[in-house]
Amino acid sequence: MKIACVFLLVALVPLASSRLHINNGHFVLNGQRVFLSGGNLPWMSYGYDFGDGQWQRNKDRIEPQFKKLHEAGGNSMRFWIHMQGETTPAFNDQGFVIGPDKQGTMLDDMKDMLDTAKKYNILVFPCLWNAAVNQDSHNRLNGLIKDPHKLQSYLDKALKPMVNHVKGHPALGGWDLMNEPEGMMIPDVHNESSCYDTTALKNSGAGWAEKKYLYKDMLRFFNWQAAAIKTTDSGALVTMGVWNPKSNTDHFNMNNHYSDFCLRKAGGRQKGVFDFYQFHSYSWQGKWDEVAPFTHKASDYGLHKPIVVGEFWEQDGGGMDIIEMFKYVYNNGYAGAWSWHLVQRGDNQRKGIAAIKDKTSNGKIPISL
Ligand SMILES: *[C@@H]1O[C@H](CO)[C@@H](O)[C@H](O)[C@H]1NC(C)=O
Repeated sequence: MKIACVFLLVALVPLASSRLHINNGHFVLNGQRVFLSGGNLPWMSYGYDFGDGQWQRNKDRIEPQFKKLHEAGGNSMRFWIHMQGETTPAFNDQGFVIGPDKQGTMLDDMKDMLDTAKKYNILVFPCLWNAAVNQDSHNRLNGLIKDPHKLQSYLDKALKPMVNHVKGHPALGGWDLMNEPEGMMIPDVHNESSCYDTTALKNSGAGWAEKKYLYKDMLRFFNWQAAAIKTTDSGALVTMGVWNPKSNTDHFNMNNHYSDFCLRKAGGRQKGVFDFYQFHSYSWQGKWDEVAPFTHKASDYGLHKPIVVGEFWEQDGGGMDIIEMFKYVYNNGYAGAWSWHLVQRGDNQRKGIAAIKDKTSNGKIPISL
């Protein structure tokens, strides 16, 4: 009898603790197809929310955001971590990473953040880096992108310990490697490989923060981080948020720089690919551009991976209101919708989140962690 009971428990545990995963091109949790609905937190104190004791100081202001999102009917949140290395990870004077943070609270900060999210049934997608602004005067992020030895120090001393510490946490939705790398890409570079050729991005706006990086370097940066995450936690999901689908599709005369092929070509690490894609979308002077997700179905991009529309807002919504925007994303084959952003414009965005919360045709939204 005792032996039978032990077997029964072992068999039941995996069912009870199902993690978000992807099956047949859809997010699945606890055996049910799920649509990710929510928003970007994205920070309370930009670059100063985690590590070095900062989380415990900010938590009282952050926890209500999880609660409000849950009450509106949301199930997921994108939350930014390192930005450009303002406070984490810890670097030495040569630009090598020596730890997750200086004071040794980072790992528990991440875990406590996820424990807090779990209380409200919110999946968190930690976003590690930001390339949408250039505030990297100390060249910390720059070193990791350009110098493989520095990148490896980040993987060994910070990323793998972080991933290992929160591995399998039910509130961990997935890892988002960077916000909008295109902010610092050099457009109009000719190359024999479409992975590295950015002529299609000429006059697209890419490089708005500063024209600093070649795709060879940026793709290695992603390939190695994704591989490190999946080597440490084989069930982890990895994504990255592009500023516009223009850099992330082979349709519309563009190049998908973030295909499995391009990531492996640049970095050489087999596991270092994305599980799902994430498009950001803002209209310009009231109009959507020709590749905007709000004028297409997810299948129009020819990607064969789930696509989350990971940033959008009514203010640059091409004339749509927030409710129409959430409904459009839900109804057109996308796998999730995260608005920008919950702290600044939460009341507006929670209306959109509430408007789709009971829909089921493209996946259920309420989850239980
Ligand atoms: C294409 O890009 C790769 C990687 O950056 C580089 O090594 C190669 O020299 C480039 N080719 C040309 C023709 O510039």
